[in-house]
Amino acid sequence: MSTHLTVVVLAAGQGTRMKSDLPKVLHTIGARPMLARVIDSAQSLNPQAIHVVYGHGGERVKEQLSGLPVSWILQSQQLGTGHAVSQAMEAIADLQTVLVLYGDVPLITSATLSRLVDAAKDSGLGLLTAELDDPTGYGRIVRDSAGNVTSIVEQKDASPEQLAIAEINTGMLAVNAGQLRDWLDSIDNKNSQGEYYLTDIIALAVESGVTINTISTSDLPEIEGVNNRVQLADLERVFQQRQANRLMLEGVTLHDPARFDLRGNLKAGRDVEIDIGVLIEGEVELGDRCYIGPNCILKDVILGSDVRVEANSILESSTLGSHCLIGPFARLRPECQLADDVKVGNFVEVKKSTVDKGSKINHLTYVGDTRMGANVNVGAGTITCNYDGANKHLTVIGDDVFIGSDTQLIAPVTIGDGATIGAGSTITRDAPSEELTLSRSEQKSRKGWKRPVKTKR
Ligand code: UD1
Ligand code: CA
Repeated sequence: MSTHLTVVVLAAGQGTRMKSDLPKVLHTIGARPMLARVIDSAQSLNPQAIHVVYGHGGERVKEQLSGLPVSWILQSQQLGTGHAVSQAMEAIADLQTVLVLYGDVPLITSATLSRLVDAAKDSGLGLLTAELDDPTGYGRIVRDSAGNVTSIVEQKDASPEQLAIAEINTGMLAVNAGQLRDWLDSIDNKNSQGEYYLTDIIALAVESGVTINTISTSDLPEIEGVNNRVQLADLERVFQQRQANRLMLEGVTLHDPARFDLRGNLKAGRDVEIDIGVLIEGEVELGDRCYIGPNCILKDVILGSDVRVEANSILESSTLGSHCLIGPFARLRPECQLADDVKVGNFVEVKKSTVDKGSKINHLTYVGDTRMGANVNVGAGTITCNYDGANKHLTVIGDDVFIGSDTQLIAPVTIGDGATIGAGSTITRDAPSEELTLSRSEQKSRKGWKRPVKTKR
């Protein structure tokens, strides 16, 4: 733990331009709230504490992220960034270095943050800046003729000459807590916005002889804030592209990185191949040489090696062995465990079931609440009738069973090892091992029967 470092994350803004009932910082990048991503980056510096300044109505933020190791500080009125930081100062000792971050700047990296903290060493103030082609809206970094920072001036308070400055304030800074406290005590709100500007501490620091050590980043998405859903979508694309690049460099083939989304974590073996339009969610593991076909969704699943998931399949909360063949158009709902060499074909839904090695469920079938043995062949149109309208019941199918097409297995029911079920059967009682069981009305043919003919008028 870095015992000298305390992080303050500002997250009290309304986020009006999101036009949303959800507080802005809960909007997600890669399915994780922006604020949580900022906290993750801060956490990697091992600070002594992270204080999140949240706003009125931000109770939801606190509730939803209650699992994170931070302390919550209410700023009941948003009187400016300087006022927001002061709310946290009571909890921070003088010898700490305070790192100020923003809950709506989600892609900031821990590498940049650690450079920023280093810039605040030796009684300096570390300031993260960037050069923008269009600096409109940002605070500008004002330097003297020797190139030293003298102040930050906000867009709305800037002179025409200052507006021409391309170097902007990202807002992120690191500074000694004791000094910060003094400076915050002496800033006022006599500016065009009537706010207490955190940026006003820069001029005060310079007056008291503190050097402003700027560090800059050319990685602009890292310092970009989100004010509306267009910016949110832009950063989502950047984030997805970065994940895709990382996976490809780790050896995963992505047929089109622009049509791949990862909302969680993917652990992939060697020579994994992912086709277009795939969405990976939660925690997913793919064994060596797995192939995921176009338009598949995989959420919280573990696949062994050499599994092929063909196009348009949806797999959730399930574990698969090696050499399985899934889809196209297959659906594995939660709590399925498939052993090696299992086949689940088109228009097949499997739920809360175990399927042992080598069994095949190839076409148009529902298997739910089932324990299926090895080398079973399930015919097309088979349905395990697991639900009686009130309770779910178990279907047990032994090894080497053959189930004819269009069969209903009315659970609870057990099919013994080696049993054969005749096509079109409705099985309501246990079927013995090695025997043929069928329930089918007898077939009749009528000799001499004629089709009716249309009467002429
Ligand atoms: C601020 C900086 C500006 C910088 C820009 C970078 C100041 C005065 N200006 O301007 O130099 O270029 O960020 O984006 O700091 N917040 C609170 N409580 C408040 C006010 C703001 O928590 O009372 C939070 C907001 O939720 C937001 C962040 O602080 O995440 C920035 O506030 P905002 O008012 O948007 O500052 P800018 O005008 O963008
Ligand atoms: Ca802003």
